[in-house]
Amino acid sequence: MDLYIDTANLDEIKEANDLGVLDGVTTNPSLIAKEKTDYGKRLAEICKVVKGPVSAEVIAIDFEGMMKEGKERAKIAPNIVVKLPSTVDGLKACKAMSDADIKTNLTLCFQPLQALMVAKVGAFLVSPFIGRIDDIGEDGMLLIQQIRQIYDNYGFKTKVLAASIRHPKHMVECALAGADVATVPFNVIKQMMQHPLTDTGLKKFVEDYKKAFGG
Ligand code: E4P
Repeated sequence: MDLYIDTANLDEIKEANDLGVLDGVTTNPSLIAKEKTDYGKRLAEICKVVKGPVSAEVIAIDFEGMMKEGKERAKIAPNIVVKLPSTVDGLKACKAMSDADIKTNLTLCFQPLQALMVAKVGAFLVSPFIGRIDDIGEDGMLLIQQIRQIYDNYGFKTKVLAASIRHPKHMVECALAGADVATVPFNVIKQMMQHPLTDTGLKKFVEDYKKAFGG
């Protein structure tokens, strides 16, 4: 399972990258806006740190605008993946970019048929937003399971990227459901190596050693 970080914060990206487990980065306009920096410059900075796929979202919502922005984003670095919305215009842009060998990540996916359609036109990644589905009282994980099943039924190559992850339990469930990738906020990445029994167990080992052998 690939692990991406879901942020545009360079310190978080560098720290996660230093753990040796980071395969890529996802950004979105809200995440880059939070950093109060130039949009394209920040994407270039991220691509210098992480060599795996870095998702760069378009702002346009019409086909022509998405194509123009998408081509500009793709020129930033070879590892840029153009992030497009899962709309009709996004679908058309995805097809045109796939034909031009530009990798795409189809975002804001909330139902399995969006994932089916974007896989048919060669999306590299599809991003089902599980946390936002949970937020409205529905079951985000069901969407991951449905997309996995559909892709396996027909041999689609598009990777299922579980997005909008809120807590470690989402991660466990995504891994069990066979998501190819999860994009995870930094606070959740850190929680993935934490357990209170590890901490108390370690404390006891050190105390027992010191009692017996000193030091
Ligand atoms: C994915 O690419 C998105 O940036 C992200 O996962 C959205 O998560 P949120 O629902 O926490 O904003």
